[in-house]
Amino acid sequence: MSYKAKFRVWRGEGGEGRLEDFTVEVNEGEVVLDIIHRLQATQAPDLAVRWNCKAGKCGSCSMEINGKPRLGCMTRMSTFAEDETITVTPMRTFPVIKDLVTDVSFNYTKAREIPSFTPPADVKPGEYRMQQIDVERGQEFRKCIECFMCNNVCHVIRDHEENKPAFAGPRFLMRIAELDMHPYDTVDRRDAAQDEHGLGYCNITKCCTEVCPEHIKITDNALIPMKERVADRRYDPLVWLGNKIFKRSDAKKS
Ligand code: SF4
Ligand code: SF4
Ligand code: FES
Repeated sequence: MSYKAKFRVWRGEGGEGRLEDFTVEVNEGEVVLDIIHRLQATQAPDLAVRWNCKAGKCGSCSMEINGKPRLGCMTRMSTFAEDETITVTPMRTFPVIKDLVTDVSFNYTKAREIPSFTPPADVKPGEYRMQQIDVERGQEFRKCIECFMCNNVCHVIRDHEENKPAFAGPRFLMRIAELDMHPYDTVDRRDAAQDEHGLGYCNITKCCTEVCPEHIKITDNALIPMKERVADRRYDPLVWLGNKIFKRSDAKKS
């Protein structure tokens, strides 16, 4: 069964733009990205949208639908009432290139600032032996599809452009936590998490967790444990004393 839906889509580039109204056909089982493609095919051939897999796995089609960050390819039209006007806008935290396509290079810059996994020099690939519980802890974070909707929704940078240089955003604070939990990673990441990547800016509102399409518990399982490890290092007098006595500042785990 098909019907006509009212769409309001942000159009523009170079810092200028406006919402444009469309009435467009919707068929049973379709998702918002299908409707954007129909608009391209029938009414707005130059409408820009980024997508790739149409299966919720490439993380390309992040957009804001009725003000909420969502994947266009995973948002069913049946989510909305048939007479509802559906507003589609680009992610707000990143600069718009054109229409619904944003420049997400902020995220790649932040990714490059994190030292990569550094195993001990004397352990060769194939010799790693890990407890299953350690494998499972990191596995949750590896589900990330890098849609950057968590970074988009985080108020630390969504409302404060000036915080971007000092804050990696939940996606990359989660990456730091993942590496810090890895039993074979030798880099002590706690001071850098706080001082260079802005962990202290996070006030655990959990907005990032709410929008994650992979249902990763970013705040509870990555950010809060990382904060606890930083607090142990800095504010637990016994840990502080132990570090002094045993000069463990160059060792990873305490
Ligand atoms: S929990 Fe922290 S990182 Fe996540 S949205 Fe809130 S402030 Fe940002
Ligand atoms: S953690 Fe979730 S919301 Fe953030 S980039 Fe990865 S998949 Fe997207
Ligand atoms: S097109 Fe790949 S996640 Fe939507």
